Amino acid sequence: MRKIISTISFLLFAAFCFAQNNNTTIIKAGKLIDVETGKVLTNQLILIRHDSIVQVGSNIAIPKDAKVIDLSKYTVLPGLIDCHTHITGQPGGDYYADIFRKTPVDVAVTAHIYAKKTLEAGFTTVRDLGSAGLVDIALRNAINNGDIVGPNIYAATVFIGSTGSHGDLNGFSAYLQFNMPKGMSGVANGVEGVREQVRYNVKNGADVIKFGASAGVLSEEESVGAPQYTQEEMNAIVSEAKMWGRKTAAHAHGAEAIKMAVKAGVASVEHGSLVDEEGIQLMKEHGTYLVSDVYDDEYILSEYAKLGFPEKIINKEKMVGKLQRENFQKAVEAGVKIAFGTDAGVYPHGWNGKQFKWMTRFGLSPMGAIQAATINAADLIGIKEKTGSIKAGKKADIIAVAANPIDEITSLENVQFVMKNGVVYKNN
Ligand code: ARG
Repeated sequence: MRKIISTISFLLFAAFCFAQNNNTTIIKAGKLIDVETGKVLTNQLILIRHDSIVQVGSNIAIPKDAKVIDLSKYTVLPGLIDCHTHITGQPGGDYYADIFRKTPVDVAVTAHIYAKKTLEAGFTTVRDLGSAGLVDIALRNAINNGDIVGPNIYAATVFIGSTGSHGDLNGFSAYLQFNMPKGMSGVANGVEGVREQVRYNVKNGADVIKFGASAGVLSEEESVGAPQYTQEEMNAIVSEAKMWGRKTAAHAHGAEAIKMAVKAGVASVEHGSLVDEEGIQLMKEHGTYLVSDVYDDEYILSEYAKLGFPEKIINKEKMVGKLQRENFQKAVEAGVKIAFGTDAGVYPHGWNGKQFKWMTRFGLSPMGAIQAATINAADLIGIKEKTGSIKAGKKADIIAVAANPIDEITSLENVQFVMKNGVVYKNN
């Protein structure tokens, strides 16, 4: 009897191995969103080998050994891309404890939780724009090694900001100082200083450079929108990044800072809250992407007082949130390029999809919002050859939702199926 059981288990194991090695998959898609043409196709087949898409169409011969995934009752679309996350952490419930009782080691220990939640929400790729202690790089590498589960990460390492900026520690005693290696704070000043900081970030693994062109909301400086670097400093950051083959993203709420960053040649303006007519025209001329976190106002105003954030910060949010959405709509209507980015980590990771509703409420069509989170996002990051649409030759980054998101955009808040690089991570 023992022998029979062990023989059966061996056969099952062998069959399992064979199934794992048989790397051909067919997805039957009831509806498929073609983000390149903006069309919804019906009854499509997607042939996948290993990690890549080989063929897409309604008339594909299904190989005998192919594993079939039946999504014929679902709408299938490319894996979503969030161009602005802080995937390594989120507020823990006490503003001061987060700042003073935690080190990057605490952050590193829990970062994998957020990475998994993000992937399971249908986001197969993120551009992560600022993390303390190089935790983003460790997280990216562990995911790429297959040690932990998460999206593909394009990481910025530390946020580059001037003394007293959104990236600095403000509002506390001048005698307080964190003891960290030079470069790790991201605080840099002057043309030479910012060039050196860009080199530090690249040396430590940055895929993209992020800097603070203007003040911010969730930091204790007085202003939200005032520039925090000179034009010369911004030019230096962008040109140094370019020399190392990196694109640049500028945190910018204020109208003046947005224009300075666009003139410096950034690939994207983050937030863009107070952009004016001239800024919108400049962004169009330069082909600069707007990445605007139009969901966050909702979460900050309902939750941040409870999380212990100072009133000063809540008041800044009240000043900026509504204007940001109105100006987002103006930019959309003027034809500024839009990429999806949510500042995830401001709200709980995994809720990224909630922003679609707000983007469509403020000017974008459902297809436009989906394109912002797929093909446009891939273009901004510089990975259009690899991902961002369901096309032969690209990585098999594929998700599915129960309803057609073109009719029901909030269906993207409940992703039912997730495949990244040909591997299924969720199949409800
Ligand atoms: N990280 C950004 C900042 O602190 C968050 C802004 C959130 N508010 C908003 N309305 N989008 O400046």
